[in-house]
This record gives sequence, C-alpha cells and structure tokens, in this order.
Amino acid sequence: MARPLTDEDRAHLERAVELGRNGWGRVHPNPMVGCVIVREGEVVGEAWHEVFGGPHAETLALAQAGPAARGATAYVSLEPCRHEGKTPACTRALLASGIARVVFGAADPGAESGGGGRELAANGVEAVGPVFDDARARRLNPAFHAQYPDRPWLALKLAVSLDGGLSAGPGRRTQLTGPEAVEMVHWIRAGFDGIIVGAETARVDDPLLTVRGVVEPRVPPVRIVLDPDATLPSDAALFDDVERVPVWVFTSEDAAEGELERLEAAGAEVHPVARSGAHALDLRSVMRVCREGGLSAILCEGGGRLGSSLMADALVDRLYLFVAPSVLGAEAVPGFRRWPLLQAGRGQWVSAQPTCALGPDALFVLDRQVGAAPASTSSTSG
Ligand SMILES: NC(=O)c1ccc[n+]([C@@H]2O[C@H](COP(=O)([O-])OP(=O)(O)OC[C@H]3O[C@@H](n4cnc5c(N)ncnc54)[C@H](OP(=O)(O)O)[C@@H]3O)[C@@H](O)[C@H]2O)c1
Repeated sequence: MARPLTDEDRAHLERAVELGRNGWGRVHPNPMVGCVIVREGEVVGEAWHEVFGGPHAETLALAQAGPAARGATAYVSLEPCRHEGKTPACTRALLASGIARVVFGAADPGAESGGGGRELAANGVEAVGPVFDDARARRLNPAFHAQYPDRPWLALKLAVSLDGGLSAGPGRRTQLTGPEAVEMVHWIRAGFDGIIVGAETARVDDPLLTVRGVVEPRVPPVRIVLDPDATLPSDAALFDDVERVPVWVFTSEDAAEGELERLEAAGAEVHPVARSGAHALDLRSVMRVCREGGLSAILCEGGGRLGSSLMADALVDRLYLFVAPSVLGAEAVPGFRRWPLLQAGRGQWVSAQPTCALGPDALFVLDRQVGAAPASTSSTSG
C-alpha cells in the first residue's frame, strides 16, 4: 500500500520538474523529464533527459546514485517508460537498481511507453502516481500530450502595447519590448519545430526568425511564411542562411508559376495550398502539410491578421502575450482582430505559468482549456 505524499516528497517532485526544463529545445518531440533520487533524506542523484535519442533522466540519475539507489526513492516528473525504444526501458533500469519507491508526476499517455507505474508495482516497487492531473501534465509537455494527427501543437506569440497594438502603423516596424523580453523570445523559439509569420510581417519586418539565445536548439526551427501571392522578395533576410535553416513558403494554388520558381531559386521550399478568402490561405491545409512534414510544435509570431485567423479557427493552443507599457494609438496595427468572443460563464484561457516581469514588460503564458471551443469558428481574412 502506497504511503501518502509528504511535503518533502512534493518538493523533490517539483525539483524533478525543474530539472526536466533544462531539456527545452534539446529533447522534443520527446517530453522534458527530470529525476531526483533520494536515500534517507539525502539526494544521491539528479538528472534530466538532455537530448533526443540520449539516455533518459532515470538512467542518468541512477548512474549518479550507483549503489546508493538500493532502497532509495526516485522522483520522476513523468511516468517511467516501459518500452525499449532508442534507449532501454526505464522500468528495467529502476528494477535492476533496487529502487524501493518511485513517485512520478504525469502519466505517460503512450500506448507502448505508458503503464510503467503498474509494471513497477507488479514487481514489488512502491509506485506512487500520477501525482499530477491531466491539466498539469499538459502544461509541462503540451506538444507531447496533444499529439494531434492532422496539425502541430501551436502557440501564438505577440508583443502588444497597452491598447492592443502591434506596431505604430501599417508598414512601420516597431520594437515594442525591451531586451529581457527579446531574450525570452529566443528561449521560447528554441522549443519549437517551426516559426510561422504572415506575409505582411515578412514584408514589413524582414525578420530572420532564427534562434539567437542561450539555448541552441537541437534542430533549428523551420521558418514559415504564409504568402498567398508569392510576393516575398528574393533578397529577404530569411534567405541569408537558408542552407542552415530551411524556409517554407505557403502560397495559393493560383500563384504565378514564375514567382514560385523565383522563390525556389532563392532557396525556399514552396507549398501551394487552397485559399480560404481573397487574402488568406486555408489554415487547416497549411497545418496538415506542417504535420506531414514532421513539425509537431510550431510558434506563430504574428502579425495580427494571421494570429487572429488562427484564433478564429481554434488552432491556437497556447498564447505567449508580451505586454509593453506603451500606447500606440489609433493608427496602430491591431493585435486582436475579431478574436472569438469568450463564452459567457466559461473561461477559455488558463494561466500556464505565473505572469512574469521582464524588465519593463510583462509576459502572460495562457493555455486554451482542453475542450473549450471558440464562440465562432469562421475564418477571418483580409
Ligand atoms: N508586436 C508583434 O508581436 C508583431 C509581430 C508580428 C508583426 N508585427 C507587426 O504587424 C504588422 C503586420 O501584421 P498584419 O496583421 O498587418 O499582417 P500579418 O498577419 O503579418 O500578415 C497578413 C497576411 O498574411 C497572409 N495570409 C495568408 N493566409 C492567411 C490567413 N489564413 N490569415 C491571415 N493572413 C494570411 C496574407 O497575405 P497577403 O496580404 O499577401 O494576401 C495576409 O494579408 C507589421 O507592421 C509588423 O511589424 C508585430
């Protein structure tokens, strides 16, 4: 019979979660996982899953603990896996070590990898978990838990003024946030397979969309532009290092053949898809191509029209909302165009982590509540 969790147990489990976060940008599409091994109140092993294809957190922590693992408790942020994949099953390693107790945070939803807790219990280990409910598990490793068959898990990142503006006016590039927020954006980018922007953002900001922060991603995210008429200039900054970081351009199926060839010559991988309006591509088709192309998590970095279309089509799972303490006024490009109305009496967005101050700016990280659908699912365009 499993003992109830003590405050000390919970603190070790939270430490395992914190360690797991070190895998951001390095382990996906695997989940981030941390492990702490404690014997008689003393921490004898601490580790995290460091890189996709590399040893799991439990294996690394057990190696640190050595013989001290016998009779100890292992705290793992995710249920230990029980299948032989790129690395041996963690349940086997735990059993071989003589661990007496395993406390795990989130359940592993995998058909093959899940069920490690039951397997440990069947072999005489005191297995406690899942300690976290589904909502907490999803917050920790959202793309891993979502696994949509027809689209990537998607986050929308916007920097807005206090009055909801994105830039001072059409055609005007405006740096809204300070260096701390910019650094955070580079950290966020590292955890995604792709970064997507609308054609107007590509035209006005001429961004690089590369990761230039403290975390070097294992695979740099693909840069993606939704450009119905294939207008992206061949000398766009995106093409500067296209050999290292791919650029995908989604155009409409009726875009001029010559323009598609020009973009391909510049280094782009061109994907024609159906339109859903005069100025819009069908986002479900775009998402399907991204998923089929191996992207499991993508970050949209605006602008307002693309972000709003994604919101209206209920394709946004997480919001990274940077709010700058400035006012842009009536000429500003709006960040929130026709966002679906909040349904009365029902919260659609929940805080995924505490709101934080980044220099003068604030960052809100919000997740769509599972099962919460927008009031309207009609596409916006134009
Ligand atoms: N503060 C921030 O976080 C931030 C982030 C990004 C951008 N910005 C600023 O925002 C401005 C650009 O934003 P914006 O709202 O004008 O444009 P946008 O969202 O960047 O681009 C809209 C364009 O994307 C193309 N598109 C293709 N499919 C679409 C779809 N399903 N839904 C919507 N658009 C689709 C269309 O291109 P066509 O027009 O070619 O048909 C459309 O007009 C710039 O001034 C930029 O500096 C600020």
